[in-house]
Amino acid sequence: MKISVSILKEKDNIKEAIEKINLTDADYIHIDVQDNTYTSNVSFPVDSLSNINEYTNKKLDVHFMCLEPESLIEEYSKLNPEYITFHAEAVSNIYKYIQLIKNKGIKVGIAINPETDVNKIIEYLPYIDLVLVMSVTPGLGGQSFLDNTTYKMEELHNLKDRYNFIVSADGGINDKTINLIKDYVDMVVSGSFITDSNNYQDKIDLLKE
Ligand code: DX5
Ligand code: ZN
Repeated sequence: MKISVSILKEKDNIKEAIEKINLTDADYIHIDVQDNTYTSNVSFPVDSLSNINEYTNKKLDVHFMCLEPESLIEEYSKLNPEYITFHAEAVSNIYKYIQLIKNKGIKVGIAINPETDVNKIIEYLPYIDLVLVMSVTPGLGGQSFLDNTTYKMEELHNLKDRYNFIVSADGGINDKTINLIKDYVDMVVSGSFITDSNNYQDKIDLLKE
């Protein structure tokens, strides 16, 4: 299972957090982008990340929690992320966004909120690389995992072999909640469980156990 470390709770000291992630075997840095449209928060304007690839070799996993993030694709693609994920609920034309991201040579993810069914995105599964199942309401780090989202991870896991996407989960993931989902997900996004600690690698090891 791949580990993507969310730095949302370390918003005010990104560099220090990333230096600590660099010392671990985490696979990705998860960048939560908010522009006060889809959520009422702001995080990681692209300027705050402009030289990120100079201080980390980790791959980037960008998560837009933004309404109609068309112009953001242009901006964040310059960071050369492996994935850009947008919310199915936040765009008017899902195919358009899949194409815009693919045109940049970046892998495409679709995120679904706790109350959104897999059915809403089923027709897009052949064309995407990742489904991000939100296990909290988007907006803040440090929320509790919502147990009633795990059935969707199982559902997607069972559909996966027919297509080419991976299943990821985001929100409230720790050494306990991981046990509810580890059979169904290929990647987990974990923030505060890792970044609230002084030893990031210890926490990552607990997730991987
Ligand atoms: C929630 C974000 C998550 C969050 C994860 O809106 O998309 O990436 O920061 O953080 P934890 O693990 O603290 O829930
Ligand atoms: Zn996220």
